[in-house]
Amino acid sequence: MTTLVVNGTERRYDGDPEMPLLWYLRDELGLTGTKFGCGVAACGACTIHLDGMAVRACQTPISAAAGLPVTTIEGLSPDGNHPVQAAWRDLNVSQCGYCQPGQIMQASALLKETPNPSDDDIDGAMSGNLCRCGTYPRIRAAIKQAAGGARP
Ligand code: FES
Ligand code: FES
Repeated sequence: MTTLVVNGTERRYDGDPEMPLLWYLRDELGLTGTKFGCGVAACGACTIHLDGMAVRACQTPISAAAGLPVTTIEGLSPDGNHPVQAAWRDLNVSQCGYCQPGQIMQASALLKETPNPSDDDIDGAMSGNLCRCGTYPRIRAAIKQAAGGARP
């Protein structure tokens, strides 16, 4: 039995503890905001927060999350108004949208660690999050807009 705390709610999982957390979030809990892209930690679509750190849920076994807070895009803000989400809306960052939950989770983790990131900081943090639609310039602009306003 694995006990997890997902978006503030305690959950118990009685299956294979080595199953990727991504499957659990999407298929068991119905938290489909976290996307499956590559399955090999190469695209960032499945990015969530584990104990406040950005991780790839496709390569994180459920056992690694035992007892730690897990936050998905659905739990980032109670009202969808995290400063990163607000900046994303203001600047119309999304195109198809598929990569964007992962981008937002990665960006919000960056701003928690580095409230006023340089271009190099942004490049370093965001380089593993791919966007087929090429929204990178708007992602960078939105991170800068949100900088300083991110919640601790
Ligand atoms: S689906 Fe996890 S990094 Fe691509
Ligand atoms: S917005 Fe389409 S993949 Fe990023």
